[in-house]
Formats: sequence, C-alpha cells, structure tokens
Amino acid sequence: MNKITAKAYAKLNLSLDVTGTRPDGYHEMCMLMQSVDLCDEVKILLTHTGEIRIRTNFRFLPSDGRNIAVKAARAFFDELGERALGADITLKKRIPVCAGLGGGSSDAAAVLRALNTMLEAKLPPAKLEQLGRTLGSDVPFCVRGGTQLAVGRGDELRILPPLPDCGVVICKPPFSVSTPELFRRIDGRKGHTHPDTEGMLEAIERGELRGVAQRLFNVFEDVPGRHRGAAAEIKSRLLDLGAMGTAMSGTGPSVFGVFENMEQAEHARKALSQRWRDCFAVRPAAPEL
Ligand code: C5P
Repeated sequence: MNKITAKAYAKLNLSLDVTGTRPDGYHEMCMLMQSVDLCDEVKILLTHTGEIRIRTNFRFLPSDGRNIAVKAARAFFDELGERALGADITLKKRIPVCAGLGGGSSDAAAVLRALNTMLEAKLPPAKLEQLGRTLGSDVPFCVRGGTQLAVGRGDELRILPPLPDCGVVICKPPFSVSTPELFRRIDGRKGHTHPDTEGMLEAIERGELRGVAQRLFNVFEDVPGRHRGAAAEIKSRLLDLGAMGTAMSGTGPSVFGVFENMEQAEHARKALSQRWRDCFAVRPAAPEL
C-alpha cells in the first residue's frame, strides 16, 4: 500500500490537573482525556525520494521540517532505519490550531499509525507512543485516543472504557493562548482547587455520563489571561442551552459542553455560532489502529 487517508481526531480534557513540577522542566499532570470526531484528514503518499513534504490548507502552519507531521514521519523512518523512503503528506486541517484541542499532536499520531499500516511495520501501539513522546506530550494519547487517564508528563497512559454516546459542543474564541505562559502562571499560584479525578474515573468506569459531566474541570480555566472572560461567557451560554457540564480544554481557549444527545448539541451549536465563529457539534470517537 503506498497511499492512505487517515483521520486525526481532536482531543478534549474532561479533567485537567497540574500536580507538581518535574526535574525536566515539565509539569506533573493528571488528566482524563477524550477524543472526539472533529478531525483533520491526513493523506500520505509513500515515495522513494528520501524527502518528506507537506501541503496544508492552513497557510499559517509551517510546510517544512518544523511541521509536527513531518517530524513524526521522520521519527518513524528513522526508527525503521529507512533512509531511501520519503512521503508526500497532504494535511486538511479542520481542528482549530493553538486551541487546546491537540490538533498538531493528533496529526503526528495519525502519521505514525498510517506509516505503520502502509509499511506493514507492525510496531506495537506502545512503540508508537514511545516515538510520539519525542514529538510532544499529548502525542502518545493520540496514538490510541478514545478515553484515557494520562499522568506524568501526560504520556503515562491507562485506557478506560469509552464514554457513553452523547453530543459535545466545542467553541473556540478567536484568539490563541501561549501554553508555556499558562504553565508559568500556574506555577506562581499558591494552592488551587483540584478536579475530582477519582470521582470522574468511577463515573467513566460505570458508564455514567451525568457523573462525568458534573465533574468536568480544568485548573487552567481560572488562571488569569484573556481566555478567562471568554471561557466564563461560553460556559454560561452552554449551560443555558442545556449542557450537563462544561470545561475549557487543555490550555484553552476552546471550551466545550456535554449534552445528552446530538440533537441538543446541534441546537446549541447553532445558537452559539451566532456569536462565535468556530463552533462544532461532535461525539466521542476513537481512531482505528
Ligand atoms: O510537550 P509539548 O511540546 O506539547 O509541551 C508544550 C509546552 O507545554 C512545554 O514547552 C511546557 O512549557 C508545557 N508543558 C509542561 N508540562 C507538561 C506538558 C507541557 O510544562 N507535562
């Protein structure tokens, strides 16, 4: 097989906690993560040029070796010791960038999965996760996606049962947030409220959507920054529209609300899109390995 089209799903943080700092300069995290069916499309054509090229519909993204999808392909070929192989990647972005939705991480993971299939390399998922770790903290999660607990740098993973089917509305305010800056700001805080990770884990294990929705929580939400006002406004609107719970994802600024079903989510998306341009109604998803 020398051609493939793969889906790269967005991720949401159902809960996000920062529990400490690490000697490597990163932070200790404790997150419940969920992939949803808002996705980028990654087309790969295998070549024998030794070059990895990328084209994307999003003109602000680097279209050279700085692009994380190119780095992923390079890491995969290096792992196999392949010097002669190359790839032409066409990336159709739908996931907003710098939005807390893991778009870049998911593109990288999709490249790893796709090359593994195309080259029949049969690297186990744990190996793909290990390669992903060198590319970014959220890439290992995106390899298998679905519903997972992520601790350590965010790369120590435990696979959980899938979330019950539901509708989710994601809304991204029209600005981006600096992830390192938000981590710096949280360091300056004395103590902060933590999510009920245990309670949410139990709710996930029992398949109780309401128990999950009631515990959605992100410690970055309350850290000062431009995202805070927008998050509060969107959350309040989502709740008015019938969301069972809401939270910001990652370091923002995207905010999401969980609804009982897709009809309610679609109704809320329509209402919110009068005010915010980037609104999506999605459902939980998991990539095929
Ligand atoms: O790993 P990744 O490149 O996605 O991380 C982006 C930034 O987020 C890092 O440079 C760091 O500032 C911050 N980060 C962190 N601790 C983590 C994950 C990310 O401090 N566990």
